Amino acid sequence: MSTATLDMPTKPKPATNSTLPKRGTLDRIVLTGFMGSGKTTAGALLAERLGWNFIDLDREIETRDGRTVPQIFAEQGEPHFRHLESLTLASLLGQRRIVLALGGGAPEELGNRLLLEQTPHTAVVYLSANFDTLVARCASQATDPAATARPNLADLNLAERRFRLRRPHYERIAAHTIHTTDLSLDQTVDAVLTAIRQPKSPR
Ligand code: S3P
Repeated sequence: MSTATLDMPTKPKPATNSTLPKRGTLDRIVLTGFMGSGKTTAGALLAERLGWNFIDLDREIETRDGRTVPQIFAEQGEPHFRHLESLTLASLLGQRRIVLALGGGAPEELGNRLLLEQTPHTAVVYLSANFDTLVARCASQATDPAATARPNLADLNLAERRFRLRRPHYERIAAHTIHTTDLSLDQTVDAVLTAIRQPKSPR
């Protein structure tokens, strides 16, 4: 089995009629999962394959606020970041033909979970992996620590506790779970495309 991480460069495959969801049945694919699960890298490639727009919730918050996520955490604390995150999420869910990568903590907020569950034509997909794999992937992304710093990864014991607390939320809001620990980026995107063509798994 491949042990490649999700950072591997890959050749984009064009969308074909067999990879596209049926018109009118799905307007949004939302990727959820812990830090390092590949929401951003897989999401961008998935959007490219579908010919949809890709939106990363953290980058959108940064664009609107004019500060980086670590700056918002440092200057106004996590509760303020969560407030901005909820406002930004709500304002994006009206858009169609988007792949949206959530931040790892977004499903902690009940309001965000309810909003995602109640937004029609929206498939939430959980990219899961074991904790050690997630930490290793985050470390391998940190070529520019200022740009990729994750305040909630600074204390690994706390991060692992958050991981355990969040897991049921990810599972609860997702229609599909993709176990990505042993998947390459390409395999992950293929698995998401296959999953969204299946009926929702029972909760
Ligand atoms: C966070 C995850 C980050 C970002 C912020 C907080 C978290 O997003 O929203 O640093 O609490 O898990 P990614 O999951 O995209 O790294």
